Amino acid sequence: MDDTRGYAWLDGKMVPLEDANVHIKAHSLHYGLGVFEGTRFYAQSTGGRAVFRLEDHLRRLEGSAKIVQLDMLYGRQELHEASLDLVRKCGLESGYLRHLVFLGAGPMGLYPKGNPIHTSILCWPWGAYLGEEGLSHGIRCKISSFSRHSPNATLLKAKATGNYLNSILAKREAVGSGYDEAILLDAQGNVTEGSGENLFIVRHGRLETPPLTSVLAGITRDTIMQLAIDEGLEVRQQYFARDEVYLADEVFLTGTAAELTPVREVDDRQIGEGRPGPVTRRLQELFFRVIRGQEERYRHWLAPVDEAAASAAGAGVAATDEPVAAN
Ligand SMILES: Cc1ncc(COP(=O)(O)O)c(C=O)c1O
Repeated sequence: MDDTRGYAWLDGKMVPLEDANVHIKAHSLHYGLGVFEGTRFYAQSTGGRAVFRLEDHLRRLEGSAKIVQLDMLYGRQELHEASLDLVRKCGLESGYLRHLVFLGAGPMGLYPKGNPIHTSILCWPWGAYLGEEGLSHGIRCKISSFSRHSPNATLLKAKATGNYLNSILAKREAVGSGYDEAILLDAQGNVTEGSGENLFIVRHGRLETPPLTSVLAGITRDTIMQLAIDEGLEVRQQYFARDEVYLADEVFLTGTAAELTPVREVDDRQIGEGRPGPVTRRLQELFFRVIRGQEERYRHWLAPVDEAAASAAGAGVAATDEPVAAN
């Protein structure tokens, strides 16, 4: 597939992708002040497609913009409709949506002065982010030599473009050393998250994940916590150090791109049996049923794109639950 062709939604209009360009003086390109979202849509087992937790992603986008003081020029309802329109226009069975709010050409300098605010949505096919093999057999991770940003150095609840330099440095180091993904610690040595995923460990059947202080409030993290609680599992949000990851029975990463990816090795130490454990498998299977619309109970997380998906959901517009962990 030629990924320079297709459509984008830019500042209120659907345009051919090749016409959705930015000026070389776009402020965000130089200084990293932008906010974004990554959201997946899936083919539904009942027919049609649905976007997973679209409202929650759009709500987080608004929150990110508030944190970094970028005005949102489009409301949630407008972006919701635009997202569904773009999925229809792109014609993909399943894929990924990228919402981005950024500053365009205008005065240069760190203090943004009247640069226009742009809003765009892109759509592309995206398979297993950490590989099909990783999804089924688990990946190998490396604890990064780069610390996660401290919450007072940059603001981690904002999914802000500039924050991702830290992730890219860690990811490159890990992949360059022969691993699949990086796990970052905070400056005190507490485990935080992957370069683009939240992290869970399983001990004695109980899930533990770091608190939201220095990690992104992942929507998949929240989904997995809700599924686990509904399955009768205990979930704790607490700090732990890297050696607790080495000793965990199971480890997995969650994210819109990574979905639920098991971790089989960290820093050359085998995790558990060296393959996805029973809790990981159970939650992964349930997660994949939920996103395909096979679990009635979680259909409200699916925003139907087409008639077939809408009639299966029994409603036109997806509602949303309050997240388990406040964002
Ligand atoms: C740094 C970071 N942590 C966690 C996540 C997982 O968040 P979500 O599940 O909302 O995609 C992401 C991906 O957006 C991320 O970039």
